[in-house]
Amino acid sequence: THSLTLHPGGHKMPLLGFGTWKVPKDSTAEIVYKAIESGYRLLDCACDYGNEVQVGQGIKKAIEAGIVTREELFVTSKLWNTYHHKEHVPLAFNRTLKDLGLDYIDLYLIHFPISLKYVPFEERYPPEWGNMQQDPVPVHETWAAMEELVHSGKVRNIGVSNFTAILLMDLLSYAKVKPAVLHIEVHPYLNNADLIKFAQSQGLQITGYSNFGPASYVELGSPAAQNAVPLFKEERLSKIAAHHSKTIAQIILRWLVQNKVAVIPKSSNPVRIAQNADIFNFELSAEEMKTINSMNIPLRLNDPAGYANIPIYA
Ligand code: A2P
Repeated sequence: THSLTLHPGGHKMPLLGFGTWKVPKDSTAEIVYKAIESGYRLLDCACDYGNEVQVGQGIKKAIEAGIVTREELFVTSKLWNTYHHKEHVPLAFNRTLKDLGLDYIDLYLIHFPISLKYVPFEERYPPEWGNMQQDPVPVHETWAAMEELVHSGKVRNIGVSNFTAILLMDLLSYAKVKPAVLHIEVHPYLNNADLIKFAQSQGLQITGYSNFGPASYVELGSPAAQNAVPLFKEERLSKIAAHHSKTIAQIILRWLVQNKVAVIPKSSNPVRIAQNADIFNFELSAEEMKTINSMNIPLRLNDPAGYANIPIYA
């Protein structure tokens, strides 16, 4: 079916996922239920999205309604930057597990290769970017704690998000449990082709986020961003969309899955939730794939090579 096989566990990860970042807390349970009803089997979550309790309620409702079983779902969550110390990794993970109301998670990712000062739950939860203070922890310490989660049986696969090729090479040099997934920004304006090729050659599968491009190009500030047409208005994409009687959103998602990149479009709108799931009944030609592959600017929302520029507040 429409999935990727993960290594080393051999589990299947659905190509179509639902993104829960920016889904408002008060409607999350209902929206997650709707997504599962519309055929999504992968839910992409993170503690800093602030809605894991509500995602859990949506999952529970869908299971109770008999739409899916827990085993048919693939739930991803992420370790936040303030929990990279080895003693904080299980703490943060167990909180996520409890919030989601689950007894295991399919995939747990290091959210960013950024380590910030620990802030206890009582002080702030969900965690945020604000009041950041750097507190470097080597990735090998965090990774060893992630491996422990796999050994505990509560996590089936572990991986990394927003890692560069260099960070990944280093991690691969010592990881006893290899990362199963690299989770990175991928859309037509940032196809990340070299990084994807490298990660795939090392046995990792890819999840792409921000599939429709950054929400606001103006905020990005770079000259490339100023000149970029929003993807939903892009001429080459609208031509291909018209040819298949599909929307640009569906063309972009189809391009990604044909490139073996799992997608996690977010929508709070039931019509668009269903639309984004309807991408398995047509195929882009080699020529169309080439056209979209050539749209790389690159223009990004997140730049993992520029994380040293993030302002630090003491
Ligand atoms: P909405 O929730 O109103 O549908 P992300 O990059 O985080 O996945 O966010 C996707 C963005 O694209 C959201 O702002 C979402 O808004 C919008 N969106 C999702 N699906 C579609 C679609 N099929 N057509 C147009 N906009 C979409």
